[in-house]
Formats: sequence, structure tokens, C-alpha cells
Amino acid sequence: MPFSEQFKEELSRRNDIVDVVGSYVALTKRSGANLFGLCPFHGEKTPSFAVNPERQIFHCFGCGKGGDVVSFIMEIENLSYPDAVRFLAKRAGMEMPQDDYDPSQGKRARMLALNREAARFFHRQLVSPAGAAGQDYVMRRRIVNMVKPFGLGFAPDSWQALTDAMTALGYSRQELVEAGLARVGKNGGAYDYFRNRLMFPVIDVRGDVIGFSGRILGDGEPKYLNSPDTLVYSKSRSLFALNLAKKSKSGYILLAEGNIDVVSLHQAGFDSAVASLGTSLTADQARLLARYTSQVVIAYDADAAGQKAAQRAIGILQPLDLKIRVVKIPSAKDPDEFIQEKGPGAFKDLIERSGNQIEYRLAETAAGFDLATDEGRLGYLRAAVRLIAALPGSVEREIYGVRAAEKAGVSGEAFLAEVARVRKQNAAAAKKRETREATAPLQAAQPKSRNLRFTNVRSAVAEEGVINLLCRFPEMFGDLPLTGADFTSPVLGRLYDAAAERVRQGRGVSLTALGEQFTQEELALLAGIYQREDVPASAASQAMNDYINKIRAEKDRSARADDMRAYAEKLKRTKGYGKDGS
Ligand code: UTP
Ligand code: MN
Repeated sequence: MPFSEQFKEELSRRNDIVDVVGSYVALTKRSGANLFGLCPFHGEKTPSFAVNPERQIFHCFGCGKGGDVVSFIMEIENLSYPDAVRFLAKRAGMEMPQDDYDPSQGKRARMLALNREAARFFHRQLVSPAGAAGQDYVMRRRIVNMVKPFGLGFAPDSWQALTDAMTALGYSRQELVEAGLARVGKNGGAYDYFRNRLMFPVIDVRGDVIGFSGRILGDGEPKYLNSPDTLVYSKSRSLFALNLAKKSKSGYILLAEGNIDVVSLHQAGFDSAVASLGTSLTADQARLLARYTSQVVIAYDADAAGQKAAQRAIGILQPLDLKIRVVKIPSAKDPDEFIQEKGPGAFKDLIERSGNQIEYRLAETAAGFDLATDEGRLGYLRAAVRLIAALPGSVEREIYGVRAAEKAGVSGEAFLAEVARVRKQNAAAAKKRETREATAPLQAAQPKSRNLRFTNVRSAVAEEGVINLLCRFPEMFGDLPLTGADFTSPVLGRLYDAAAERVRQGRGVSLTALGEQFTQEELALLAGIYQREDVPASAASQAMNDYINKIRAEKDRSARADDMRAYAEKLKRTKGYGKDGS
């Protein structure tokens, strides 16, 4: 472990979660053991963000974010684990054990080193004779000059090339699989995940290679393969090329859809282009952008899907007080094609002419109606009122409201009165939605994060119960007749093993102590489990027995189902049922 146990204990003692969170969030309500405030990670009007002083954890009942004081700082300041620790150490006036933190140790550090080696390997392939197919493609796309600055690479058309090269450097197959670079095949061996693809390393703002996107050479499906989320990579929290764009002097960040667009834009001198990675823009990515710029220029694809995505992105960027402009690309499908055909100067003109987002959206809306008819004007008015009602600033509402009213031939006052009515309606609906979400039954048995979905929810509920009791009453459960391997959910199994290990050592379960072994999402899941109070101390023993029996019963059930499947398979083979039809 990079940081010593004592250091982490001292760190969490000197950074009380209530004080730290309290400097970002007003914790205005108390309910049971929790303090509540408005969640800083998603928009809400009634508080569902809870901090538990006793357990030193936070958990948002709305968006599912959660963890300890270090996770909170990672999340809100957008820092890596060691940087968040440094941040808190500084805050508490503690000496950093600089020498203790050896970056060559620890799982994260090893995964980052492996990613870097993999990026080097792919890059070497692209510039060597073995990478002819990749070179051809790069020429055809006319992005040769960008191979070096982006560290582009080529994954050879082989099942083993990367795996062999990385195992020769001392990385295990397991490490390759965990880093998302290899997969486990049916025979149990590992094979390369990326094959015969142009490789785009994803590099974070600290310069670490955290993942990859691989584009197929030419046509075919899927067009892009992306690294899965790992200990060091979260697609929804990363932006492609932000490592380069953050150094730009342009005063804005250009947000494109495709990796190729980004590369092509940089080549044309637009050095602030970034793209979200195989997802539509997320709130986390928007917050990341807002750290580096106050102006975002959206340059999505020209097709209907791209325009729809632009509208969505505006909705996500708008609450962050960013200046937003939207480039509309005429006569080409995307920025790359436009620049290749018309040149960088023409694209520069497009940016300069790009309207601000309200004008853009109003113009888009007007284009959808025939304003010469009453019906068309009415349709336009309804849509324009909705748009303007969503603007946060009253001055903006007034200015654009009057303009839209003129366009439809009604008075400004009438229009603004309608806007006020819709705003009231929206606020009431939002409030209702929040209440409904907060009181929704435990259909929230599934984690908020889709990466952590349970396959057997019945068993997972019991597995969570075991973890909850173990965390809350460690002294009650010395030796449990279970290991994580008995769990149906691998994540819960690993969380359980880590917690049980601490209990065996006679220590309490502390998220800060476990922080380094788990991803933010996994820690959030643990915080969500830990905060529950549904079983009182008096019923803990009985509940623990029930949970264990449930887990065993589910295990037997699925073993029986497996037996049935195997039997059916055997029948198929021996009796000649099935595919051959012999
Ligand atoms: P595009 O299809 O627009 O990609 O997808 P592109 O980079 O512009 O490619 P060209 O110009 O057609 O060659 C936009 C983004 O969506 C994600 C990728 O991040 C891509 O850059 N995507 C697309 C995927 O993740 N998977 C896919 O199969 C396709
Ligand atoms: Mn594209």
C-alpha cells in the first residue's frame, strides 16, 4: 500500500467529513444520524445528500454518489486518489510522507504503467513495417502529422501480440484483463481485446494513459471499441484530448463528437478540441470542462442525431454558467470532413459566426414551424416559452423573451407572463419528481452505476446485508462462515473480503482505509450499503443468519440450474438434438 495505515487514519481524523464537505455544501438539515444538504453532484431542489459524521461517509440518495472524505475531494475537485490525499494533508497541515508514496507500487500505479507500455507498444507497431495497414489508414484520413502528438498507435491483427509483449515486461494476464487490454477466452486463456484497429490513447490531465479507443480500419462494426471502465478509467468522467486542450490559449474549448474530428481539428490549429468518449456528454464531463474554460463551442456532427446531441449538451452545460456557442456545419457531415474540404480558415469563420446557444436554439425552433400561419406561430410560441423558461438568468429571459415574442407577433408582456407560468409549473413538477424518487421502494436494489449491475438481485440484497452488518457491528462477527467467493456479485465479494480482513485484524471498517483498493463507483456502492440502518443492533445476529442462509439457498438454486443446463447440453450431444441435425 502506498500510504501507511497510520497516515490514513491520521488523515481522516484531522479531516472530519462534516467540516470538509461543509465548506462546499451547506448541511442545513438533520435527520437521524445524518446531516443533509443539496447534492453538489447533480441538480436538485430538495436535499438528498447525506453525511454521516459517525461513519465518516457521505451518500446521495438521489444520484448514488458516495464514499469517504477522500472520495468526496476526488469527486468535487476532480483529483486522482494520491492528489486528493495530498490536498487533504495540506488542508490539515500534515506532512506528506513523500517517500512513502512510491509510484512504482500500488495497483493504480501499476495499471497506469501497464497502460503506458501498451500505448508505446501500439505506437511502435504503427510506425513499423508491421503496421502498414494502420499507416495506410492514417494516410487515407490525412492525419499523419498527428500520429506523434496524439501518440496514435496500431493494434496488430493478432490475438496475442499485446498480451505477449506485456507479459514479457512482467505484467500478468490478470493485470491485462483488469486494465481492459485483454479478455478471458473460453479455454481460460487471455486474448488481446483490441485487434486490427487504429489506437487512440486516452490521456488524462496529469498525462497518464488511462484507457484506449480503437477505430476499425475502414467500414465495419463496431466502429469503435473503447476500454471498459477500470480502476483508473471512467469514460463518463474523462474527455478525449483534454490533456492537450487544457494548454490552449484560444479562450474556449471545442467540443466535438468523434475522435477523428478532434485529431483533425488539432491538426488544423484548433488546439482546444476535445470529445466525450463513446457516451453522450455527462454532467461529470461538463464539470471537468468548466474547470478549464468558461466558454464551450459545440461542434457536433451535422446530422439530426448530432443536432439532437447538441441540444442535450446545452442542457447539461447550461447550469454550469458556461458561455455556450454552437457551430453549425454546412455542406459536410462533421468538422473533420468540413476542414478537409474547405480548410481551417473556413472553419474559423464558422466558429466566429456561431451564435450563442439561446439564439441558436430559438432559430432551430423557428425553422421547425411555418410562422405565416396561426397554427405555426402558436407551435413556435409554445416551444419558445419552454426554452426561455429554462434559462437561469432573469435578464436573459427578458431579452430573449421579447425577441421571440416579436418573431411570433405577440406582445412581450404576454410572452413573459406565459414564461413565468411555465416556470412555476416546472418547479412544482421537479419537486414532485424528487419526492417520488426519494420515496421510491427498494427497486433501487440495483446500484446506480450500470457497471456494477447485479445478476442475482435476490442474493445481492442478502450479500449487501452481510456487508452492512459487518461494517456496523464488527465486534459481533468474529469468524463468518462465508468468503467473497460465495457471493454472486464479484464487486460485493471483493468489498466483503476487504472488510472482513480488517475485522479479522481487529480494526473497524473505514472507507478511508479501503480507498486505494476500489474504484470511486465501488466505494460509492459501499457507502450506500454502510449508511443503511434498517437492522437494529438487537436483531443483527438473527439478520446475519438469515442473510447467510439466503446466499446459500441462492447458490444451491443456481448450481441446480447449471446442472440442468449441463444435462440438457449432454442430451443434445448424445441424442443428436440441436445444431448438426445429424
Ligand atoms: P463517429 O462515428 O462520428 O466517429 O462517432 P468519428 O471519430 O467521427 O469517425 P469517422 O469520422 O466516421 O471516421 C463519434 C464517437 O462516438 C463513439 C466514439 O467515441 C466516436 O469517436 N463511438 C462511435 C463509439 O464509442 N462506438 C462506436 O461504435 C461508434
Ligand atoms: Mn464523425
